[in-house]
Amino acid sequence: MPEAAPTERTLVLVKPDGVRRGLMGEVLSRYERKGLKVVAAKLMVVPVALAERHYEEHRQKPFFGELVRFITSGPVLALAVEGRQAVAVVRALNGATKPWEALPGTIRGDLASALTPNVVHASDSPATAERELALYFRPEEYCPYSRVDQEYL
Ligand code: PPS
Repeated sequence: MPEAAPTERTLVLVKPDGVRRGLMGEVLSRYERKGLKVVAAKLMVVPVALAERHYEEHRQKPFFGELVRFITSGPVLALAVEGRQAVAVVRALNGATKPWEALPGTIRGDLASALTPNVVHASDSPATAERELALYFRPEEYCPYSRVDQEYL
């Protein structure tokens, strides 16, 4: 019987604090252990113009400048993560945005203590994921897994 949950892709950024603290592997391994698949990855410094487009919906908020300043302050690891209900699953693994509300066992519950440097960003809906993924990855940057899956695994 086919499983009802749809396969989705979502954008994850291991933020500059996560990269600086050496947490890329830790974060990545939590998604992989859950059964999600990384289908594109890029270590990059986010240009200011890209950060402003990414956080467009927060432009009117008082912390917009801080968000842009922080996300452009050092390298981030951008990931396209795929799996059943990947948007919701990744957000559950990440934990609440405010680290002091994030449950132990989640990435922010275990690893973060501040609001802006909170280790990871992830898209908050499938529509947002589509928009955000298009900001960070071109179609040809997604890795085709089918051949290795079929022939070697
Ligand atoms: S979420 O997780 O995107 O639904 O969270 P949201 O509450 O919409 O917050 C969006 C991003 O804004 C950051 N944020 C803040 N930064 C500084 N000060 C305050 N008060 C504040 N409130 C929210 C929050 O860390 C989210 O960053 P990203 O990079 O999207 O995770």
